[in-house]
Amino acid sequence: MYQAKRILVTSALPYANGPLHIGHLSGAYLPADIYVRFQRLMDREILYVCGSDEHGAAITLRAAQEGIEPQEIIDKYHGMFQEAFEGMDISFDIYHRTSSDLHRETSQEFFRALAAEDVFDKRESEQYYDEEADKFLADRYIKGTCPRCGHPDAYGDQCENCGSTLSPDELIDAVSAISGATPVKRKTTHWYLPLDRYEKWLGEWIERGTIDGREHHDASQWKNHVLGQCKSWIEGGLHARAMTRDLNWGVPVPPELEGSEGKKLYVWMDAPIGYISATKQWCIDHEQDWKDWWQSEDTGLVHFIGKDNIVFHCIIFPAILRAHGDYVLPQNVPANQFLNLEGEKLSTSRNWAIWVNDYVRDWSEHTDELRFYLAKNMPEQRDSDFAWKGFQDANNNELVNNLANFIHRVMVLSHKYYDGILPEINEDIDIAGPRTDDEYAFHDSELLFLFDQMHQYCAHVREYKLREALQDLLSISSYGNQLLQFNEPWKLIKEDPEKTKVVLHLAMQYVVALSVLMRPFLPRASDRLRDMLQVDRLSDSGELLRLLDHMAEGEHPMSSGHAIGEAKHLFSRIEDERIEAEMEKLKASQNDASISVPAVAIKPEINFDDFSKIDIRTATITAATTVPKADKLLQLKVDLGYEQRTILSGIAQHFDPVDLPGTEVLVVANLAPRKMRGVMSEGMILMAENEDGKLDFVSPREGWGKGYVVS
Ligand code: MF3
Ligand code: ZN
Repeated sequence: MYQAKRILVTSALPYANGPLHIGHLSGAYLPADIYVRFQRLMDREILYVCGSDEHGAAITLRAAQEGIEPQEIIDKYHGMFQEAFEGMDISFDIYHRTSSDLHRETSQEFFRALAAEDVFDKRESEQYYDEEADKFLADRYIKGTCPRCGHPDAYGDQCENCGSTLSPDELIDAVSAISGATPVKRKTTHWYLPLDRYEKWLGEWIERGTIDGREHHDASQWKNHVLGQCKSWIEGGLHARAMTRDLNWGVPVPPELEGSEGKKLYVWMDAPIGYISATKQWCIDHEQDWKDWWQSEDTGLVHFIGKDNIVFHCIIFPAILRAHGDYVLPQNVPANQFLNLEGEKLSTSRNWAIWVNDYVRDWSEHTDELRFYLAKNMPEQRDSDFAWKGFQDANNNELVNNLANFIHRVMVLSHKYYDGILPEINEDIDIAGPRTDDEYAFHDSELLFLFDQMHQYCAHVREYKLREALQDLLSISSYGNQLLQFNEPWKLIKEDPEKTKVVLHLAMQYVVALSVLMRPFLPRASDRLRDMLQVDRLSDSGELLRLLDHMAEGEHPMSSGHAIGEAKHLFSRIEDERIEAEMEKLKASQNDASISVPAVAIKPEINFDDFSKIDIRTATITAATTVPKADKLLQLKVDLGYEQRTILSGIAQHFDPVDLPGTEVLVVANLAPRKMRGVMSEGMILMAENEDGKLDFVSPREGWGKGYVVS
């Protein structure tokens, strides 16, 4: 397997339209940071870039809601992100932003190059337009019912309930997110990326890891769920996607291109180029050539993201990079699945979250502990859960009782017996080990065991199996604890002082190795431990590699005669009160949210006249059938008492038509008739939906039958 000379690591650029929660952290930032810190310790040439994603409709909509300028929004969140990442010790080499001039120039240049090579198809199409607001409605500016799950508040580009990627035309009963008006269609021209033309090489690249028949990466190293998503996209057939939008916020389409007026780059075109502009800025600051990172065979590019970003990083951005021609493609996209909180989906709108800025403020002494728990429960292969109680247990049982306790015992005993000076040992003395009943000569065995564990840890990190790497680390300290328990140096010291030296000398080697292996996961604890041991803190430049080389030559991580400092507890217990307080806070904040912010925003106020215009009648469904080529719609016959109506309703995914005849319902009887799929729909049936997407008819009291007027 070809190993790249340099590694370029990216974490998804967070949208600057809301704060970061622990789900973001465990999805795209913590795993990347652990990986990067590890590679630095292995002396690899590596660059870790990120920045704020400051364009896109989510930001302008948010600004409009709050009545402020987009610039204010992005400045606020950009600042909060920097604080949150710094607080959690996410060690970017650069944290950039897409509102910068350099980014605008970089993405325009990229777009220009694609246009010059005729990569795009320019197409005129009809798009939704809000006549009240005088705006085209792209992506998040349009809302409606999700055709996949029936969620009533899906956006034109995505349903946040089921995660489907959508196009505005798929939405059922689309409305403008700005005015609530029913949009009309207007003609507009955009630049399309013909993804269908890249289907073949994308398929080969993803499934086999080859480009033009040449090996590019090891496809077997990609996570199953990532491959699965990509394959299903490709099997479903790729379609051309517009790479521009009619918006007034974003990177302008290069002005010299015909028809560029009022057009901006699609945010998913500009944001990933943010990785490139961030790299450029770093290279300017460090007098390097950015092309060495982006346009050289020597680079291994790795994107850390959450699973909702897979299609953009595995299909669309690679297609863009390859269409340009000069750029490297990712070697791996180790996307994570989602983290839940106390068994429920994290939700910004419901305020069901632990916000990173809050955590670093309230738990500033315990940021490694959060990194630990998030790494231990990382949603690497499937969704996982954060529970405050679990966080407390992980801290108290694993960090305190296992890791810190082992280190503390070794250091305390070393002070007690040897004044903190690592003793010389007689290399011919064997000590007993807990793994088998046999006696082991420790040089060939216990130290070898440590060495093996260290190698296994390295292999796991390289394979993006960070949970397993963390277990490798913990098993070193639990094994160390067993070794002490087995040999009982506190008794042995009287019977066999020479052998006791061997036990403690060996245990100290484990402690030193741990201080290095801890670094990617627990950077602050590594510093504290190395201070206690009176060895240099790690500067993240090859220390692990040198330690392994050193050990391979039979040398010990710490040499006899070294004087350690005072033994302190590396971690401390977290008491019930703090956890209970957090649980209370979480529940209270959610309640607040449900009182003050309804999950579905209240529509603009109307007066009585508006209301009295609506004519609602009770009615009975008499027949229900499916509609050919419309898998969301049912065609219903409805009896209002004084007449029969045909009504089309987007409920096919919730009800079986055979169950419906006889159902008593409420009908808006004076809604203008509307033709759908060639059938005239004469009214609307009232439905209600709860937060979980459960949908049902609003029914009159049983037995009312037809003909009542509702007011
Ligand atoms: N802002 C996007 C999100 O939060 C991620 C953008 S990643 C990038 O989901 F590649 F576009 F930068
Ligand atoms: Zn949905």
